[in-house]
Amino acid sequence: MTAPAIVDETAHAIVDACDALAHGSLVGLPTETVYGLAADATNPQAVARVFAAKGRPAFNPLIAHVASTAMACREGVLDERAQLLAETFWPGPLTLVVPVHAEGHVCELARAGLQTIALRVPAHRVARSLLGAYGKPLAAPSANPSGKLSPTSARDVAHAFGEEVAMVIDGGSCEAGIESTIVGLLPSEPARLLRPGIVSRDALLAYLPDLVGPTEGAINAPGQLSSHYAPGASVRLGAQKLRDGEVMLGFGPDAPANSLNLSPRADLVEAAANLYRMLRQLDQQNPAGIAVMPVPEQGLGEAINDRLRRAAAPRN
Ligand code: TXA
Ligand code: MG
Repeated sequence: MTAPAIVDETAHAIVDACDALAHGSLVGLPTETVYGLAADATNPQAVARVFAAKGRPAFNPLIAHVASTAMACREGVLDERAQLLAETFWPGPLTLVVPVHAEGHVCELARAGLQTIALRVPAHRVARSLLGAYGKPLAAPSANPSGKLSPTSARDVAHAFGEEVAMVIDGGSCEAGIESTIVGLLPSEPARLLRPGIVSRDALLAYLPDLVGPTEGAINAPGQLSSHYAPGASVRLGAQKLRDGEVMLGFGPDAPANSLNLSPRADLVEAAANLYRMLRQLDQQNPAGIAVMPVPEQGLGEAINDRLRRAAAPRN
């Protein structure tokens, strides 16, 4: 498999990326959370390429990335709660699931046939320039083969997809390091946390006092399939000591000196940013298993532990 061009984030790269997208090709796109595999969300053939490249079940809808709240309002119906969240958290790592707009442009395949749509205005400068220049929504799931670790560098994307992507724009390593928080805001329903993420539950509760979910056992967002974000090696959580053949992913000041440490000072923001990169690094050593030290559940810890539990779940 030949690697695609990894290009620097120049104005020229944005023009080339627009050209590739207009021709139905895929572009590796940096965002502040993880890299996305972007396609023109209004072009079903381009979107089909995303599903094929990722090996993603077609019942799993994609997030439509848009340049602004105004553009979001052309694709979905944002009620007062959604407007308030948009004002507060966009551009940024929050995805809103709302009823689809009757005159929206995002194709049915990208929405997996649902009458709802997931919308996000990303904050990363490259994502913003590309969305601004392209002028149409981009469907962009995380740029990893379905079920595997999400990518936090341009190289991860190039390595996973080879020539299936026309180009990968190198926007550096992702600042946040895990995916956006997904909140469902549907008529006559309480606001529902569908996927914990970079915007913590506490941050949302200030605006959504009735926030519920995620519901245990239910598939809230299809990315909630129990085994997900999985490295090749098995993952053991809550580990204090290494077993034979294992490598350790540490957290906090008490981690063994020879382990990779998510955050020696037990900082959850730093740990989120390091999570996928370190899991990937440990996986490359082909260990018997990856032992992960406990990470506290508060704040961003909820999203980190959500990803870790899925990485450790029995594989589907
Ligand atoms: O940070 C992120 O959100 C990254 C970057 C690239 O923006 N994207 C991302 O996309 O994580 P993806 O496709 O890997 O995850 C999107 C999640 C999936 O779990 C999908 O099921 C859910 O969003 N989703 C999309 N549309 C939905 C809808 N209408 N209702 C419920 N869940 C939806
Ligand atoms: Mg994903």
